[in-house]
Amino acid sequence: MKHTTGLIAVLALPLFVVASGTPRSAIGADASPSHKHAAQTRPATLAQAPAKPAVSKKSPAAEYTPTVRYRLRTELAEGKMAFVGVGGAIEGVVNPTLRVNEGDVVQVSLVNNDGIEHDVVFPEFKAGTDRVNRKGASSVTVFRADQGGEFAYFCSLPGHRQAGMEGKILVGGVKAPIAALPPSVSIVRNPVDLPGPAAPGPLRTVKVDLEAVELVGRLANETTYNYWTFNGKVPGPFLRVRKGDTVELNFKNNGNSRMIHSVDLHAVTGPGGGAVMTQTPPGETKSFRFKALNPGLYVYHCATPMVANHISSGMYGLILVEPPGGLPKVDHEFYVMQGELYTDRPFGQRGHDEFSVEKLLAERPEYLVFNGAVGALTTEHPMKAKVGDTVRIYFGVGGPNVTSSFHVIGEIFDRVYGEAAMGSTIMTNVQTTMVPAGGAAIVEFTLEVPGRYILVDHSLSRLERGLAGFLVVEGPDSPEVFHGEGASMAGH
Ligand code: CU
Ligand code: CU
Ligand code: CU
Repeated sequence: MKHTTGLIAVLALPLFVVASGTPRSAIGADASPSHKHAAQTRPATLAQAPAKPAVSKKSPAAEYTPTVRYRLRTELAEGKMAFVGVGGAIEGVVNPTLRVNEGDVVQVSLVNNDGIEHDVVFPEFKAGTDRVNRKGASSVTVFRADQGGEFAYFCSLPGHRQAGMEGKILVGGVKAPIAALPPSVSIVRNPVDLPGPAAPGPLRTVKVDLEAVELVGRLANETTYNYWTFNGKVPGPFLRVRKGDTVELNFKNNGNSRMIHSVDLHAVTGPGGGAVMTQTPPGETKSFRFKALNPGLYVYHCATPMVANHISSGMYGLILVEPPGGLPKVDHEFYVMQGELYTDRPFGQRGHDEFSVEKLLAERPEYLVFNGAVGALTTEHPMKAKVGDTVRIYFGVGGPNVTSSFHVIGEIFDRVYGEAAMGSTIMTNVQTTMVPAGGAAIVEFTLEVPGRYILVDHSLSRLERGLAGFLVVEGPDSPEVFHGEGASMAGH
């Protein structure tokens, strides 16, 4: 617990404003559900994934990540029955028209709001929810919108359609006007953006420059957030040294920052892990030096109060301290970190999100993401490899709060450095590895079968809040290892 002492020390600093400070923009904040635009403004997550193998169009259940989500609640007013939209562009709309693109994987949730038994069915897509009876109960259906056109949805209970429970789903060619969002940039760290192993030779003094940068970044396609970062990306740069190296760390806080920032590296032996020496006001630079005594993969993060706010906003990264002989060579190394965001508005809203200290303290994140943003490792930078390749993933949890049950759907970790410990027994043949907040793991596996593998936290509710990454593997089929109809799509 190298940083504990430092945290106590820095807690003596005055508390800074925790709100993001970015004014809410005058755009229609809740104008439209983000998912819809995900399908419009960039390739639909699933339909456009590289190297998409042929799949039965009628097997949406094989998918893990819907591209479009709608919520409906039931309502009874003046003897009429209706569906009413919940959230986004359909908020409050009676029997709203659901707009999706052809090929979308559509998720529709029905919430019972009147205590009368209902369902919602989409006969053309052979889909429908369960019947929900009690107020507050809900049911979800997921289907692929595999034909264009205008279709009806309705409640299948006798008489309910006639009593008013009917709406339309419009599939394809949907181009709703898109209101402007504040200017924003991608803060996503490309998972292949990491340095190679240190060349053999004498121990070195390694100079590291970290800069705290606050900027409006894309949290999702249609959602922006005021990120606090190391060097403009989430996670911060992957630092790589060798056991015995000396690190000279210069920590700069950009002149445009509003906050004090700092850095605490778990690889440091010394109070605060650097946090005490690096509390840095905007425009200033502070430095310190440490010797990397222990090999392993370590988290670093900002440690300025409110620390959890700084971490949640993007201030975390990994430093690898390689053992003297280095790590075995592999074909691909990837850098992936999991984090949580606590936004004032619910998941999936269009517009600019602000920070919510209440949700942070209640540990109720709205977003959980790999490499900083929804879609970071699915649409923006899916990982790529070939059959026969060996893969190593440096996986860390910035958090600040949530432990990850890290899993790759369709693969088994051949080797795991559990808790990123080095010099201990390497675990073999692991399905899911637990990575604590402020911890890391190194997983390695060989790819035998082509297709798309999905990185997840196996606490799979979090998949619904943005936590997914793709590893796309190309190469010849291996029917002796895996064979079946639509074989190489996602799935366990
Ligand atoms: Cu820490
Ligand atoms: Cu009904
Ligand atoms: Cu900070």
